[in-house]
Amino acid sequence: MARVAIVTGGTRGIGEAVSVALRDAGYKVAANYAGNEERAREFSQRTGIASYKWDVANYESCLKGVAQVVAELGPVDIVVNNAGITRDATMKRMTRAGWDEVVDVNLGGCFNMCKAVWDSMLERGFGRIVNIGSINGQAGQYGQVNYAAAKSGIHGFTKALAQEGASKGITVNAIAPGYIDTDMVAAVPPQVLEKIVAKIPVGRLGKAAEIARGVLFLSADEAGFVTGSTMSINGGQHMY
Ligand code: CAA
Repeated sequence: MARVAIVTGGTRGIGEAVSVALRDAGYKVAANYAGNEERAREFSQRTGIASYKWDVANYESCLKGVAQVVAELGPVDIVVNNAGITRDATMKRMTRAGWDEVVDVNLGGCFNMCKAVWDSMLERGFGRIVNIGSINGQAGQYGQVNYAAAKSGIHGFTKALAQEGASKGITVNAIAPGYIDTDMVAAVPPQVLEKIVAKIPVGRLGKAAEIARGVLFLSADEAGFVTGSTMSINGGQHMY
């Protein structure tokens, strides 16, 4: 039986590449999305991957969404916590709402999704959780106290939950992408982005497929001895 994977934020950007890579490797994939229906419809038509709408920041919605995936595809073996947003602003301009939104989606969403699948993974003695962190959670970034805090939280969360899953067949790992060629990075002001790219030793932005390759590795049955680790895929920008 093919294993079942949920990819949050799985219809665009890094998530889209992850959904497609997992499908190509033979997994049954559910691509979650929160808002952009048109893009999700286009994604599902093009890839044949089912998309499911719910807000990862909402705990009840995660429970319902996961239950729907289980009913349609089977018990969930792999969760890729990829859904993430930015509300970049310097501390002077950042609002409390901009802090809450980013923490609730990027970090709260990871808790909600793990909680929704955890008991079932324990019962079945198998699970693969891959959390998408960020270079900016490792190194910080001007204008991102909310995002850097949430992503840094992802790395601590990963190491803590990995300890709980280790003897139960469940691995929990993180990937820390650098600057990847997606809509999120395209929103960075061009003059700021130019300076960032100049500091990437590989000399370019990363590709979403280069992150998906890491997710595939960590999701495999054969990756059972890798847990609590962070794979940095950032073109050498931050050697952590
Ligand atoms: N380091 C030091 N100073 C900086 C700086 C930096 N990285 N970025 C901006 N500044 C300085 C500017 O030089 C400027 O200084 P002066 O006033 O003395 O000229 C001052 O800060 C204000 O800069 P802006 O005009 O850009 O200020 P703003 O308020 O309009 O915007 C900002 C601030 C929202 C932070 C904007 O600079 C920005 O969007 N930066 C990009 C932040 C970023 O990299 N986000 C990553 C998004 S992608 C992502 O998050 C994915 C991932 O995981 C990697």
